[in-house]
Amino acid sequence: MDQPKTPYEKPILVKYQNGWSDKFGRLQAITPMTHIDGQPVQDLVEKYGSPLFVFSERTMVSKCRELKELLALRYPKFQLAWSYKTNYLNAVCKVFDREGSWAEVVSEFEFEKALRLGIPFSRIILNGPCKTESVIEKALKGGARIHIDHFDELSLLEKVADRLGIRPEVGIRVNFSLSSIPNWDRFGFNFENGQALSAVKRLVIGKRLTLSGLHCHIGTFVLDPSAYREATAKIALFAKQLHDEMGLSIKWIDLGGGFASTNTLHSQYLPGNQVTPSFSQYVEAITEGLENLNGSSSEFPLLFLETGRALIDEAGYLITTVQANKRLSDGRRAVVVDTGIHHLITSLWYRHEIVPAQEFGGTFEPTAIFGPLCMNLDVIRANILYPPLKTGDRLVIKTVGAYNVTQWMQFITLRPNVVMISRNGQCDIIRHQETLDHLTALEEVPPWI
Ligand SMILES: Cc1ncc(COP(=O)(O)O)c(C=O)c1O
Repeated sequence: MDQPKTPYEKPILVKYQNGWSDKFGRLQAITPMTHIDGQPVQDLVEKYGSPLFVFSERTMVSKCRELKELLALRYPKFQLAWSYKTNYLNAVCKVFDREGSWAEVVSEFEFEKALRLGIPFSRIILNGPCKTESVIEKALKGGARIHIDHFDELSLLEKVADRLGIRPEVGIRVNFSLSSIPNWDRFGFNFENGQALSAVKRLVIGKRLTLSGLHCHIGTFVLDPSAYREATAKIALFAKQLHDEMGLSIKWIDLGGGFASTNTLHSQYLPGNQVTPSFSQYVEAITEGLENLNGSSSEFPLLFLETGRALIDEAGYLITTVQANKRLSDGRRAVVVDTGIHHLITSLWYRHEIVPAQEFGGTFEPTAIFGPLCMNLDVIRANILYPPLKTGDRLVIKTVGAYNVTQWMQFITLRPNVVMISRNGQCDIIRHQETLDHLTALEEVPPWI
């Protein structure tokens, strides 16, 4: 019997480019992803449309529990606080609330969102460099924890506390110069130049507030766990200094967020899944740093972590559909898909892993993946070695759960549906796609036009 003929493929010459292969010289493998948590991608798109954000409750829960189990082993007096700005969709916040996390908010709107979700004041941490008087008043009245960012805020807190006739326990945010990462010195009081100590003295002299907490957030996507060892040691020594020299008792230390997800920065040579530290490496570094607490107070402080992206990034997927194939002037193949940087701001700094949602064949070729915007910067991947795609093919963009559905914008197209797949395989919409009505509801046309 005659063998079926393989279809003819036009031969092409592909110039090798750095970064296509892994460290052993093998081309990076692409494995199709036909299902997300057991749900066929094709069915998801048929039911909810394309593009589509999909969140996996299973991944969120398993990440959260993994971190908690490691902390429980090394420093059981801890509390996670979900960083709202990382992803404040109600369903996402509720999953973390159910897993025992508090809420970490940085604006009045986020604060209100947490309250509406039923988070009590006592489980809310208010951070941020621009707190309004009204949110400070709400937080102080209700008993939320506030971390003071600068001297003007310190005075504002004193004024509000005075008006309310209370002397609340507060924390200050401190920033450190660390040997392996750049200093985020625009938030909080600097430790090395003595500003943090001045802030404490100022707070004590004011007699309106009681210092009970120290907060720092050393950066984000921190790939070097030793930065946490250094920062934690510095904050612990600071707590000890405040105890020994001023008789202050630090009841909580909040180390913010910053653990890296398995995404790959554009500047990274090796892919994230090969180089991202494990939770146990971060936890080990933190708990080693905490050993410097020795004798800083009669009780060990409560340790807060406000881990954001590392808990949710891998739980998020963005399904998109190929709209067109074209050739650029340099001969490169280009593909136009129906999602772009307006939904996926993180593609500006990550080489997101993008995999076809169906089996594929054919020769890999340098390919640009463009979004649908009529804007030159709408590029999801400028140059990826990719198999041929047809219009209508689906792609799954991975590790998109952090900072996209909060920083996305309505620009040129409307924002799509977001669904969550539960641990028992149920799929529900957690944010509906926008319509023109949503968009125009806030607009007015003055009668004089
Ligand atoms: C104060 C604070 N806490 C927590 C986070 C969450 O950080 P990440 O998503 O890097 O874990 C951030 C993010 O920048 C932050 O500013």
